[in-house]
Amino acid sequence: MGTSASKNSDSSHGGRDGQLYVSLKMENFNIRGDLIPHVYGSAPITGSWDSAKALSMARESASTWELSFVVPPNHETLDFKFLLKPKYSNVPCVVEEGPSRLLTGGILQEGDARSALFKVGGYEEFLEYKLFIKVDIVSPFDLAASWRAYQENLEPSRVRGIPDVSINVAPDNMGSENGPASTLELDLEHYVVPAPSSSVGVVYAANLTETPRSLVNTRISSKNDASSGSSYDSSKAGVFSLDHSISQKDMDSTVLDPPKLLPAPGMVESKSVGAFSPLLKEDGQKGLLVDRGVGSPRLVKSASTGAFTFDPKLDSETKKAMPAAAGAVAAAAVADQMLGPKEDSRLAIVLVGLPARGKTFTAAKLTRYLRWLGHETKHFNVGKYRRLKLGTNQSADFFRGDNPEGLESRNEVAALAMDDMIAWMQEGGQVGIFDATNSTRNRRNMLMKMAEGKCKIIFLETICNDKHIIERNIRLKIQQSPDYAEEPDFEAGMRDFKERLANYEKVYEPVEEGSYVKMIDMVSGQGGQIQVNNISGYLPGRIVFFLVNTHLTPRPILLTRHGESRDNVRGRIGGDAVLSEAGELYAKKLANFVEKRLKSERTASIWTSTLQRTILTASPIVGFPKIQWRALEEINAGVCDGMTYEEIKKNMPEEYVSRKKDKLRYRYPRGESYLDVIQRLEPVIIELERQRAPVVVISHQAVLRALYAYFADRPLKEIPDIEVPLHTIIEIQMGVTGVQEKRYKLMD
Ligand code: F6P
Repeated sequence: MGTSASKNSDSSHGGRDGQLYVSLKMENFNIRGDLIPHVYGSAPITGSWDSAKALSMARESASTWELSFVVPPNHETLDFKFLLKPKYSNVPCVVEEGPSRLLTGGILQEGDARSALFKVGGYEEFLEYKLFIKVDIVSPFDLAASWRAYQENLEPSRVRGIPDVSINVAPDNMGSENGPASTLELDLEHYVVPAPSSSVGVVYAANLTETPRSLVNTRISSKNDASSGSSYDSSKAGVFSLDHSISQKDMDSTVLDPPKLLPAPGMVESKSVGAFSPLLKEDGQKGLLVDRGVGSPRLVKSASTGAFTFDPKLDSETKKAMPAAAGAVAAAAVADQMLGPKEDSRLAIVLVGLPARGKTFTAAKLTRYLRWLGHETKHFNVGKYRRLKLGTNQSADFFRGDNPEGLESRNEVAALAMDDMIAWMQEGGQVGIFDATNSTRNRRNMLMKMAEGKCKIIFLETICNDKHIIERNIRLKIQQSPDYAEEPDFEAGMRDFKERLANYEKVYEPVEEGSYVKMIDMVSGQGGQIQVNNISGYLPGRIVFFLVNTHLTPRPILLTRHGESRDNVRGRIGGDAVLSEAGELYAKKLANFVEKRLKSERTASIWTSTLQRTILTASPIVGFPKIQWRALEEINAGVCDGMTYEEIKKNMPEEYVSRKKDKLRYRYPRGESYLDVIQRLEPVIIELERQRAPVVVISHQAVLRALYAYFADRPLKEIPDIEVPLHTIIEIQMGVTGVQEKRYKLMD
């Protein structure tokens, strides 16, 4: 049979996107049950030619035996042999005939070896096994999935007996004088340090949504009667004044920065980032800028000719407004702009669902994800509009389907929010998330009409049939929503909200029209399903993929940099150095921390990059599977790898200055930018969302900045400067109300 490297068999470490997954199979129809096929050889197989240490192959069928494993990146050549071990007696093992087998970069050196020959029973009897040696390139994503299958279904993992996905057991000296246990006190709280002021914390998600510009604009401009410039008939909406009953919770979220409220049409908000931005050029033509990394020429599309040209003369203001996206996101933006109809590049995700079904939570999470990827996204919450326009004191009656005044007021605020959203899209916004019940066909028809020719609508219906989850959501609502901030009696609040819910239920019409995604019982994470109708395109596909993978099971995610490396001490960037003494001490302390913090978590796992400093940091941790991801490797500094910042400044001053000016987009020559790092981390984020058990991520500064920014909802432009100190653990607690952060500093 020989071998086959089914994909790219480039053996250089840097030339592949995954690791070699080797599957060894032996087949013999006259199989002798008393002889068990084994494999042994140099590292990483067994690390020695001692037959006592040989790895047993697993019986796959009556005639075949199998062993699969992943080759760590630093072991490109495997040197191994097969042997048969007697099952019951102490008779010596039988080693296969011939020289050992060499497998380099996925290719078997000894030609097309189809069989293994064993001499048994003296010199007369030969046993021949047919061989199947298969080599695949496997992504870390698949590795993680394999572990999950193992953890969840207790199926034997396809990946086992290997150092890169491995569980090491506690050494005998654990807890001894020099062991890790002695280096950390029992009380983890002792190590807690304040999280930065911008850290994540539980906030009612609706409060963080877009500030209603039409309403606040009315407040700002009502005296001089300025028009909002919106397409909505404002005469219908009446003259708004801020109701004195607006709660402090709402007021807190209406602190405004007026110049950002009303950018002129075609202007680019300096704060905003996205996959593309229409710019008003001097000649009045709109163009599309596509980011190609700082230092590279920019592609500008003329709206009049449709042609793309390179424009070397873009001034710094224009550069600032460049889209913050790389890789797939930028490519999709170009393709959409060149090929798709205008409205398809603007997407409205319109939530549908009864109250207390997790709509706002889902909307907030999706907003965070899309923004992090570089899509300019905003969350519009109609409840916030209602509270600003009408105050917070509507009783359940207001929400009755047969209350014409209530219905009109509700439609009015929904139209205002939709109007704001469309206006924002016309200024360059890409994805608007429209968060309201939108639970009748009439309401949805109104929205579809408003969106006609301006943006594409996808309805996202959240359905939940689990009474316990609904009850929990209602309770959270009474505790957090500004609607009940002035209701001192919790039970009275509960009664009122349940009545409101019943009023909605009476007129509820599930979505059956247009493009839609239905999330049915997905919140609990216990099964559930997603139904999709008439969904196409890059971004909708990506959104569905994200939604399929998210859930609310509470669990911690621990983020930490590797222990200090020798390159850290020398101030050198990149490289693949081992740990310094301090770094080794941190590794021990971390192991002890993980042991204590996750002692009740049977299924936690440890993720590292494939670089030594993270693997060594993880090595003292015992009892949990460890998974290496190439995606978790440090930002690739290209030609600057191994240099100090001082050396770069001296020898490559232009590079140094370019990076200083725009660290987010700056791409090291033959290396990466922060935007590139974000794109490659997307599968890691999806997997972190999908995991139900705790995960410890041991990675590097730039990578952790990007991961942290996702959880903390920090804007892209801040990512390169986020503080992620050495020897500090950032614990992100994922839960039903959002994410919370805690930091532990294990060493001074
Ligand atoms: O200095 C440690 C390090 O992890 C380098 O390997 C890496 O290039 C750098 O941090 C990333 O940080 P910054 O983007 O601030 O240079």
